[in-house]
Amino acid sequence: MDKWVIEPATVEALPDILKIEEACFSAPWTRRMLEAELSGNPFANFLVAKQIPPGETGSVSIFGYLCFWVVFEEVRLMNLAVIESMQHKGIARALVTQALEVGMAQAAMRAVLEVRASNHAAHALYRSLGFCDVTTRPMYYTNPIEDALLMELDPIVSGSAPLPREVSHEGGRIRPLQ
Ligand SMILES: CC(C)(COP(=O)(O)OP(=O)(O)OC[C@H]1O[C@@H](n2cnc3c(N)ncnc32)[C@H](O)[C@@H]1OP(=O)(O)O)[C@@H](O)C(=O)NCCC(=O)NCCS
Repeated sequence: MDKWVIEPATVEALPDILKIEEACFSAPWTRRMLEAELSGNPFANFLVAKQIPPGETGSVSIFGYLCFWVVFEEVRLMNLAVIESMQHKGIARALVTQALEVGMAQAAMRAVLEVRASNHAAHALYRSLGFCDVTTRPMYYTNPIEDALLMELDPIVSGSAPLPREVSHEGGRIRPLQ
């Protein structure tokens, strides 16, 4: 039940992604927004952490996801979530690590993201990967209105933690992108 791999998302994952999105965020992306990132945005990449072997029909098989853009020299982390029951197992770290690898393979030099000022878990995650606080964007978020911290990893290589090929915790592993 706890084994997982990281793979590029397909549109078939949309219902599971939407379920996690709505459970994790007070201002969730809509189905339409997710769909646009999955299939309509040329800059967008979508990774999912997926249960292996697949669950029985009807059971959730996607544990988490990360949407990120690679825009020329920059990786922009756009949306990240892991279902509560699978948190603290290194899934988010593996998703971000994989995104940085994808970005580097496309010649990206740095990575940026915004995070709610009160989101201590996410902030700690990004700090542990070498991201630094750059500035505050006042009242950036709605529902509730809140400041964003802009964080940056520049350059990707020297600032980040070692980029593991294997994630051993609970048997999860990264499947290299094709
Ligand atoms: C933030 C989130 C993605 C982390 O996912 P996760 O898979 O549990 O994170 P990981 O297990 O990979 O944790 C990696 C590191 O992040 C930090 N971290 C993660 N959760 C933490 C928490 N609750 N408190 C403090 N630090 C935390 C730790 O440094 C951790 O390293 P450690 O396990 O060696 O201590 C998850 O809590 C989540 O989905 N939250 C709701 C949605 C959200 O806030 N998304 C981010 C928007 S920017």
